[in-house]
Formats: sequence, structure tokens, C-alpha cells
Amino acid sequence: MSTTCLLLLLARQATGIFVGCRSPLLQFVNSFSVRRTQLEMLGQAKISSFFTTSASKRCQDDSKVEDVQVTPPSKKPRIESPVSAEDNHHQVAPLSPEQKSDIEKKRLNAKLKLIEHQTSGVVVNIGPSWLKALEAEFSKPYFQKLSKFVDNDRTKHTVFPPVQEVFSWTRMCPIREVKVVILGQDPYHGPKQAHGLCFSVQEGVVPPPSLENMFKELTTDIDGFKHPGHGNLTGWAQQGVLLLNAVLTVRAHQANSHKDQGWEAFTDSVIAWLNRNLHGVVFLLWGSYAQKKGAVIDKKRHHVLKAVHPSPLSAYRGFFGCKHFSQANEWLVKEGKQPIDWTQLPRVARKP
Ligand SMILES: *[C@@H]1O[C@H](CO)[C@@H](O)[C@H](O)[C@H]1NC(C)=O
Repeated sequence: MSTTCLLLLLARQATGIFVGCRSPLLQFVNSFSVRRTQLEMLGQAKISSFFTTSASKRCQDDSKVEDVQVTPPSKKPRIESPVSAEDNHHQVAPLSPEQKSDIEKKRLNAKLKLIEHQTSGVVVNIGPSWLKALEAEFSKPYFQKLSKFVDNDRTKHTVFPPVQEVFSWTRMCPIREVKVVILGQDPYHGPKQAHGLCFSVQEGVVPPPSLENMFKELTTDIDGFKHPGHGNLTGWAQQGVLLLNAVLTVRAHQANSHKDQGWEAFTDSVIAWLNRNLHGVVFLLWGSYAQKKGAVIDKKRHHVLKAVHPSPLSAYRGFFGCKHFSQANEWLVKEGKQPIDWTQLPRVARKP
């Protein structure tokens, strides 16, 4: 390019930029601002291109990380993949059952976080299969009201069981593996007793009278049953015995203080789900409260055994001798299911 050409070009550009400007000062200011705008535009272009490239790169990296997590190389070698490594970038390979369940697990975890937030931290630590089955309840107005009540009561009083244990009944086995249901009413209201399974108490806490009476009945009903020396019924729950209270929280030392706040509707929905979706479940309904709550159970589909409550006030009027534990097992065997080993309440070795 010749010098003349260059000068002509510069002159043209200059007239284009400075058009309409009269005073040299204005010209200078104007030129400065124009250049600044140009610079800013350039900068923005650079910044936005930086963001687009880095963001899309990050997404890719994330999906790569996901891929690694979803498909552990040890479990699913590349050779098995029907899609070549090159195609992998463009096509989605069909998901294996493990991948699907892993994705489902992640979805449920995210859901649980959301529900925890929506229910003021009342719904925490709920078993995944239970969360999936009961998900719709948590966003209903009654549950919103209930969680506000429980959360608020926890700020003013001691409430049992501790937050993390309100839903321990959902962590013992998947919802579809429930075989026996024992319905309770209200959690124990003394310190360290309630831990989210009805009738059960933590080890180190003296078993309350109703539970002692259950152990008494078991001793005569089930061969080889011996008092375990504690009241921790986790060993039953893990085999598919759902130990469900109608009301899931209580204020310390005030029996039934959280009744009629919404828990009953929620636990009714649990019973309704089991009634509708499972077959041949044995329901042990002790006392008129449990029997009323269990009135909805379809007796053609499930087995309902009734007796008076094991409380010392009524146990002698028919709880002793009801043989519900062995009867429940007979029903389970008839259904082709594994019976419950009621003796499975191991003592846990504690540090001295
Ligand atoms: C209750 O029993 C289960 C197993 O049967 C055990 O894992 C758990 O630690 C026990 N809880 C307490 C508080 O000892």
C-alpha cells in the first residue's frame, strides 16, 4: 500500500468520525468518547466471548464429570458401549439400569433439598423410595401449615424426636418392602426415648410399659424369643416392620401436644399408599385409636389383626395371648414372603 493511499484512507476515516464537530476541543472529546465506545464494545465482545467459551467449556466439563460418576470405568468398559468414542460427543448412549437409578438418586436428592427448604426443615432425612411415594403430600397446604407449626414449636420448646429422627421409619427399608405395619399414636415425650419408630426406644433407655408387655407376649408367642435387654426395635424395622405413629412429633412432657396439626392426614396418606400399592401386608392394630385409623385398609387385599392396646391399662383384656407376632408370620408365609425374625433385636456393643 502506498503512502498516499494510507493518508487518503486515514483522512476518510477521520471525516467519518469527526463529522459534525466544529471546535477542536469538542473534536478531541468526541474522538475520545468514540474511541472509548469502540474500546468498550471491543472489550465486551472479548468478555462475552470469554464467558461463552468458558461457560460452555464448564458445562462440558460437568457432563464429563457426570459421565465419570454415572459410568465407573471398572463397571462398564468402553468396549461394551454401542456408540464409538467419537460418536459419544454427539449422541446419547442408552442408559444402563444403574445409570438410570443413579440419575434418579440425584434427582431425589435435589428434591429432598427443595422439600427440606419448603417445609422449614421439618422433612429431612427421608428414605428415597418413601420420598418418591409421598412427594405430593409435602406441597399440600395442610403440610405447609404443619411444618410451620412444628418448626415454630421447636423454637420455643423441646420437641421429640430430634429433627433428624422424625422420619427414621422411612430409612429402614424401601417402601415396597413393608410386610408388617404396627400403628402407634404419639411419640414418647421423655428425653432420649423417641427416635422415629413407634414403641421403640434408644438403647440405654428403659423400655416403657407397653413395650415391656409386647416383649412379654413375644416370649410366650415366639420360640426362642428372649427379652433383648433394650427397647431398640430397629432390627424389626429393617426386616420390613413399619413402626408408624399417627403423629410424628410431640412437645417434651406433654402427651399428644402435636395432635390435630396435620400429621394425622400425612400418616393417613402413608397408610393409603401401602393399602393401594402393596399386597398381603399384615396390619397389627392395637387399641381403638389404631383400629379407627386402619379402618380404610382393604381386608381382601391385606390382613388385619386387631387386639387391645399393650398398655398396662388394657393388656390383660386380650393383648396377652393375642399371638399376633406368630400369626403375622403365618400370613407372610402364606403370601410367599420371608417371615419376620422377631428375635432379631441385637444388643449393640457399647464403648466402656
Ligand atoms: C439400634 O439397633 C440398630 C441395629 O439393630 C443399631 O444399628 C443402632 O445403633 C441401635 N441404636 C442405638 C441407639 O443403640
